[in-house]
Amino acid sequence: MSDFVIDQKEIERASELLRAGQLVAFPTETVYGLGADAGNVDAIAKLYKVKGRPGNHPVIVHLSELAAVDNWAYLSKEARLLGETFWPGPLTLILPRKAHVSTLLTGGQDTVGVRIPSHPTALALLSTFGSGVAAPSANKFGKLSPTTAAAVKEGLGEEVSMVLDGITPDIGIESTIVSLVGEPSILRPGMLLPEDIAAVCGLELKLAYLKSEAEGESEPVVKAPGTLDSHYAPQRPLLLVERGKLGEVLLELGHKGLTCNLLAFADSQSLIDSVAQDLADKVSIDRSLFVEGQAKDYARGLYGNLRHLDETGAASCIVVEEPPGDSAWHGVRDRLKRAGHGSSLQSLFLSV
Ligand code: TXA
Ligand code: MG
Repeated sequence: MSDFVIDQKEIERASELLRAGQLVAFPTETVYGLGADAGNVDAIAKLYKVKGRPGNHPVIVHLSELAAVDNWAYLSKEARLLGETFWPGPLTLILPRKAHVSTLLTGGQDTVGVRIPSHPTALALLSTFGSGVAAPSANKFGKLSPTTAAAVKEGLGEEVSMVLDGITPDIGIESTIVSLVGEPSILRPGMLLPEDIAAVCGLELKLAYLKSEAEGESEPVVKAPGTLDSHYAPQRPLLLVERGKLGEVLLELGHKGLTCNLLAFADSQSLIDSVAQDLADKVSIDRSLFVEGQAKDYARGLYGNLRHLDETGAASCIVVEEPPGDSAWHGVRDRLKRAGHGSSLQSLFLSV
């Protein structure tokens, strides 16, 4: 797909549809977005309806250039510095909103999320449209985010007027969300890492997304619905298993008569193969995907892999080998934890 050529006629048609209050899905470097004219309250209402998203969950306004951010939000010195450094790119800033910005976009809050994506198709659409495009990920609320045009069509079908195609998202998971309102915090981890953000703006950033891992921590100051405990979920129950416990868990699943599709690291392959061979009558791995241990590659393939394991074969569940804990993996770990949270299996195995 790297030789994909942007069709300006298609971009203009998409832009016209947005102007007419319709919804257009488009690729970004993170995941596909479901776009609506951010200045049209009827279009925003349609967006929430199609997405199936509760009204108090804000959406991100996408723009083509830093100068346009001033029309939507107040940029502090630090915010401007972050924008200049990381935009276009996988960063969303939560900033104080300008008075005219509809609270329909902001979930009733006085803040607005803004982002300038780097994907060429997204940028072409945004600059042709010439104003803000409100765009959540182009999936139904709570489902896996799409990283292909086909996945968008499968999830939203006729409800979206047009799906723009383009080069495959290079990042693969949603943007890092940084709030610069109140205590500077990272609300959602992504592939742009906390240390890189802190190094540029000189602020100490609270890692609000770690709240559930840190005992007794209270809710983040600004609530981001993407941080609902259960989100980004496949249909099949997903079980996230600590490294080193995979053999044990697979055996236990076999005892319970459950089959699984497996997502594990390449360096665990021989161990798993030997467990599967030795205990063929007790372990039922239906399909397996083994991935290399680089966070960037893992993130790029994550939603496609989960989708595949969710739709392939007849397994009762998906088992995922937990990635490492260092900050390069925070985004991936966050999505996997949410995909597993609340699944009956995860609680069954909490003691393993
Ligand atoms: O990479 C991305 O950010 C993708 C692409 C399409 O740009 N978009 C995306 O949008 O992930 P969505 O709606 O699925 O997730 C947006 C997140 C939500 O968790 C929402 O709560 C948070 O951004 N958010 C948006 N505006 C906010 C605000 N004013 N305050 C706090 N959180 C906000
Ligand atoms: Mg989303």
